[in-house]
Amino acid sequence: MGGGRFDYVAVNADAWDRRREDQLRTARRGWSATEPTWGIFAVPERTARLLPADLEGKDALELGCGTAYVSAWLARRGAAPVGVDPSAGQLAIARQFQGEFGLSFPLVRASGEQVPLRDGSFDLVISEYGAAIWADPYAWIPEASRLLRPGGELIFLGNSGLLMLCVPEEDETPATAELLRPHFGMHRFEWPDDPTIEFHLGHGDWIRLLRRNGFEILDLVEFQAPVDATSSYGFVEGWWANRWPYEEVWRARKQA
Ligand SMILES: C[S@@+](CC[C@H](N)C(=O)[O-])C[C@H]1O[C@@H](n2cnc3c(N)ncnc32)[C@H](O)[C@@H]1O
Repeated sequence: MGGGRFDYVAVNADAWDRRREDQLRTARRGWSATEPTWGIFAVPERTARLLPADLEGKDALELGCGTAYVSAWLARRGAAPVGVDPSAGQLAIARQFQGEFGLSFPLVRASGEQVPLRDGSFDLVISEYGAAIWADPYAWIPEASRLLRPGGELIFLGNSGLLMLCVPEEDETPATAELLRPHFGMHRFEWPDDPTIEFHLGHGDWIRLLRRNGFEILDLVEFQAPVDATSSYGFVEGWWANRWPYEEVWRARKQA
């Protein structure tokens, strides 16, 4: 992890170590859910259909698992998940809930850019707001490709690039109808209020990056919210999320 190219990893892991109370609430909701729901406005899996239909016996890796409720959903559907995250604090919450819910799977402290696991050992790599936005895609997408078996699936969900162009810099200030940043050159976002660093790309850059790393793109799902949707996240409101895609989910398959 350390400095240089991956200087942001420790900054972000420290920030996530501090986010304990909110994450305990999020974790309890996620671990208790009988059906997965996705993202800011909790789109149910029966509508989103993001997960492969058959997970029985599948080796799954969650990159940036945080409290690992997504891995718990996978385990309950018959998969054998491994959760990877650089934040000791988030992994401690994941371990607490493993104990509480009687569900155990390996948790590895590492960042999505450098995963200490063997080439070609997974059928599914998934990230819900983990590596998907907190790791540099130019480092974690090649890593996901290395870790997947040929034919394996990559699924990741995060804020849409469009939303990131419209979110003011001040914390918890909702997205506007104005483009506040240029699309071209979109990559690294540094947030000053609660110092953290995120990564977002435009669609053309995502397509080229995925293809260059041996992926066939299966789908790009753009979520639309009901106009009166509410959430506890201050940076996007229902009226915005009803008009423009607020989140996007990429599904890709590693070619044989
Ligand atoms: C919003 S949580 C998402 C995980 C999970 N869905 C949850 O809500 O608990 C973001 C997670 O990304 C992790 N993260 C930060 N930097 C990362 C990196 N470079 N690679 C992988 N995960 C990272 C954080 O430690 C945090 O646990």
